Amino acid sequence: MKIVALVGSIRKESYNLKLAKFMQERYKGRLDIEIGNIRDLPHYDQDIELDPPAVVKAFKETIADADAVLWVTPEYNYSIPGVLKNAIDWLSRVDKLMIGKPSLVVGASMGQLGTVRAQQHLRDILFSTGVSSPNMSGNEVYIGSVHEKINDAGQLVHEPTIAFLDTVVDNFIKFQK
Ligand code: FNR
Repeated sequence: MKIVALVGSIRKESYNLKLAKFMQERYKGRLDIEIGNIRDLPHYDQDIELDPPAVVKAFKETIADADAVLWVTPEYNYSIPGVLKNAIDWLSRVDKLMIGKPSLVVGASMGQLGTVRAQQHLRDILFSTGVSSPNMSGNEVYIGSVHEKINDAGQLVHEPTIAFLDTVVDNFIKFQK
């Protein structure tokens, strides 16, 4: 299954990026995960949506080629980061590439709640008319205190979290068939 991971943090040492890379490695062979580039997308602008810059076209092609999207989001001020919302706004217009394309949502934060509020917003957004992406209920991955679960080498080393991720990925593979 071809998956594009969209990571809501663009900083180099992002825990969410490390989580995306961990999933890329661990589920190799079952999920073919490519990490999408949202850093270089310009702000969404309706005036140019019909003929957007090349970077937007390339981004949309990556999503069009994918069977599903893996959202890996931090929480910024109780919501998803603006860079992620901006990417979704591009995807929600003209060719509306997310409609019917399944989503798997995960997220990590240093706080206890592990992006609960951000993911709640993200699920609302995925439900919107221009996005309309199916996602599984009952498989919510909130990784709190992430700085204690990822080691200095950037590896997720918290066994209960890994076991839960394994279950969710199994469920997602069945869900999207
Ligand atoms: C945060 N952080 C944060 N954490 C949280 O649990 N709830 C929140 O609302 C916020 N808000 C917030 C806003 C901004 C602008 C920043 C920079 C940070 C902390 C956040 O969870 C922490 O910095 C994570 O490490 C960010 O994810 P990455 O960059 O490590 O993937």
